[in-house]
Amino acid sequence: MKFGHKLKIEIDGYDAKGRGTARAEIAEGIERDIAVPHSAKGDELEVVFIKRDHAVKICELEKIVKAGADRIKPVCEHAGKCGGCIWQHLKYEAQLEEKMRGVRELFGKIGLEDKVLDVMPAEETLNYRNRMDYAVGWNGEIGLKETGSWNRYVDIKECHLLQPGAGEILQIVREWMTKHDLQPWDVKFHSGDVRYVVIRDGVNTNERMVIVVVGDATRISDKAKKDIKDKVLVLSPSPSPSPSSLLIGEQSKPADLSYAQSFEVLIGKPSITEVVNDVTYEIHPNSFFQTNTKMAARLQDVVLEAVRDAKTKKLLDLYCGLGFFGIAAAKKIGEIQEVVGYELDEEAIKLASQNMNVNEVGEKCRFFSGPAEALDWKDVKADTIILDPPRSGLHHKVIQTLLAEDSPSYPQTIIYVSCNYHRLEHELPSFMEKYDVVSIQPLDLFPQTRHIETVVILKLKALG
Ligand SMILES: C[S@@+](CC[C@H](N)C(=O)[O-])C[C@H]1O[C@@H](n2cnc3c(N)ncnc32)[C@H](O)[C@@H]1O
Repeated sequence: MKFGHKLKIEIDGYDAKGRGTARAEIAEGIERDIAVPHSAKGDELEVVFIKRDHAVKICELEKIVKAGADRIKPVCEHAGKCGGCIWQHLKYEAQLEEKMRGVRELFGKIGLEDKVLDVMPAEETLNYRNRMDYAVGWNGEIGLKETGSWNRYVDIKECHLLQPGAGEILQIVREWMTKHDLQPWDVKFHSGDVRYVVIRDGVNTNERMVIVVVGDATRISDKAKKDIKDKVLVLSPSPSPSPSSLLIGEQSKPADLSYAQSFEVLIGKPSITEVVNDVTYEIHPNSFFQTNTKMAARLQDVVLEAVRDAKTKKLLDLYCGLGFFGIAAAKKIGEIQEVVGYELDEEAIKLASQNMNVNEVGEKCRFFSGPAEALDWKDVKADTIILDPPRSGLHHKVIQTLLAEDSPSYPQTIIYVSCNYHRLEHELPSFMEKYDVVSIQPLDLFPQTRHIETVVILKLKALG
């Protein structure tokens, strides 16, 4: 089949990337697997073949002949092109159903389907994110990458994933770049000035931090700094949070990175504050923080309930970030005597140490920075461990060390928080040699996308 070939198909399901799938006859007697981004089950479509993804033919939607029952009109004008929301055209119930089908199918493969609990749906399906990293494209677009592309960008007017007002900020940066002759970054040739506009919100504190990430901060004149500062200061706060801080960040590495190596603060403070379940967190501009504040509170509830049920005395919060779970556990669970947090990001660890004092649990907590794979369990001996690794999952050494035959004392309870349940299919079988899986709780922290968070509770098997 040649690029540009047109087909008529009916979508019969979704693949792991959230694309609608179909099996189509591309020539007499020859059938192929087709995937169409932004399509819905039951859609009858005219599509055109644009690229291959291994054996799958990726097609672009040209015409909806008949819409599937789950299709709705998206709220956002960029839906259908923007890579931020692959499923905005699907009813929320259909999104949840498809996520849960995927979760049940995958855990079913390792005999755990009956451990999967009902999903906790999102409290808000739009405007739920507290952070967006908008890239500056080579033609001066500011927005998100197009679905399936690494170098084509959607120039975003308004984004419905963040709280309102992001579009106005992006427009200020566009006009500022033109006025001061600042060039958009070119990801291919690693040249230009302005690379990313990152917006982070303290949803419960009404704070908003704007970070303009540039390649070389010395290229931003004092006049340009004053200009953007003045423009941002006059942004009206209602109904959206007005920026409480503005930073110029510098990232000189050629890789496509939205975090900065250094910052200059033009307005406000160099961090933002968020409060979740009455626990206060100071957040560094580069640090990880759960991106859905409302659902982060529910996630914390689930994790803390498991910590409490385990009658935890010593808790290890591995991949702890700025202490999201560990500090809350120390503050809310009286029986806990000690919390040890371990995390790669040094800035996050500095903030965790600050956050433990802000929340008056400094005497119970200790935070260390370093790679989880280098941690020596003999130094920790926790009875409960929280594991919350990045999307890539656990380093194999972490699993090896945790389950080593000579391990001095296995933790009684492991609470594995994962934003990528596909990794769990590979990792859980090793744990299951020594641990029973008690429950798997899915929580929808990411509406309009195919992602879902899961909390898996593991209990040490009885010896004998
Ligand atoms: C999903 S986040 C969880 C953070 C924290 N538990 C929270 O809820 O805010 C994963 C964290 O793992 C950290 N990380 C990534 N690789 C790591 C490694 N090799 N060792 C330790 N921490 C790592 C990241 O910096 C990030 O803070």
